[in-house]
Amino acid sequence: MYTLNRNALINLLIIKSNFMSWSILMNSILTVHSKCRVGFYPRSNLKRFPVPDDKVDWSTEYKQYNPPNYTFPGLHGKPYADPEIGDPNFEPLWNSIDGNISRVSYNGPYQIVNGFPLNPLGRTGICGRGVLGRWGPNHAADPIISRWKRLDNGNMAVGVNNKPILQFIAIKRGDTGEWAIPGGMVDPGEKVSETAIREFKEEALNSLSLADKIQWEKEIDEFFSEGEVIYQGYVDDCRNTDNSWIETIAYNFHDESGLTVGLLKLHAGDDAVGVRWVDITPDLKLYASHTEIVSSVLKLRIKN
Ligand SMILES: *[C@@H]1O[C@H](CO)[C@@H](O)[C@H](O)[C@H]1NC(C)=O
Ligand SMILES: *[C@@H]1O[C@H](CO)[C@@H](O)[C@H](O)[C@H]1NC(C)=O
Repeated sequence: MYTLNRNALINLLIIKSNFMSWSILMNSILTVHSKCRVGFYPRSNLKRFPVPDDKVDWSTEYKQYNPPNYTFPGLHGKPYADPEIGDPNFEPLWNSIDGNISRVSYNGPYQIVNGFPLNPLGRTGICGRGVLGRWGPNHAADPIISRWKRLDNGNMAVGVNNKPILQFIAIKRGDTGEWAIPGGMVDPGEKVSETAIREFKEEALNSLSLADKIQWEKEIDEFFSEGEVIYQGYVDDCRNTDNSWIETIAYNFHDESGLTVGLLKLHAGDDAVGVRWVDITPDLKLYASHTEIVSSVLKLRIKN
């Protein structure tokens, strides 16, 4: 049995998901956003300008629209953050691969107005970059690692209607306390950041003997060569603004036999560790659009 902790696991998944090629399974891109239209903007005291449902679309006139303009001051000079728009040294290639940064949207070409990229789903009630690093799309990857729930004797557990129970690895978010898919931001061509490699080694491999390390890495490599793309596109996230938004590509890695990653002991229920196998049930509530992503994994696996 392997024991992994939260950071090591997240980094491992980001590392592996960069090496693979995928078949596109499902491509139902969101067409409305709502989580980024309500209340105060995160890490600010700014209230979003009200955007009624019929005024979300940029093509609908909204003369009174006057959203607050916010860029989190802590972004300034961060290596993952773009400079300000208007900075003479900042010449972004919108809708393109721009050096190490993908400014391509899965939702198709986005508009540029007065030098600012426009949110492809419409108004959010706040302009500027908010807390996001990039103007335009901010690319994340969300790995959904699944297994069938098993009893101690190894037999599959069954739930209502005698159906097997699918479980996935969830992490508890530090900011909102909600359970979420263990994703992270990615840049194209970045196989893995230096920091991620270091953390991964420190946290996952140090406690193992050399032979165990080699065996463990091999099994995990094989497991992560079988991913399927579940979703790619815009994410309805409370951090999105009129000019910056999150997009993700979600992969499913499924351990049908429960003999590889399915063996990972994740200290079930230990909130201090903040990573565990969670049953996918109809009433499951997760962070942002994660509920929808996880539901499509369930549909796929039950169908097969
Ligand atoms: C927001 O404020 C910045 C800094 O004052 C300014 O450069 C920028 O044009 C403003 N953004 C929008 C979308 O109005
Ligand atoms: C891309 O990233 C690599 C490694 O961090 C760096 O050496 C290189 O200069 C970057 N290229 C561009 C175009 O930013």
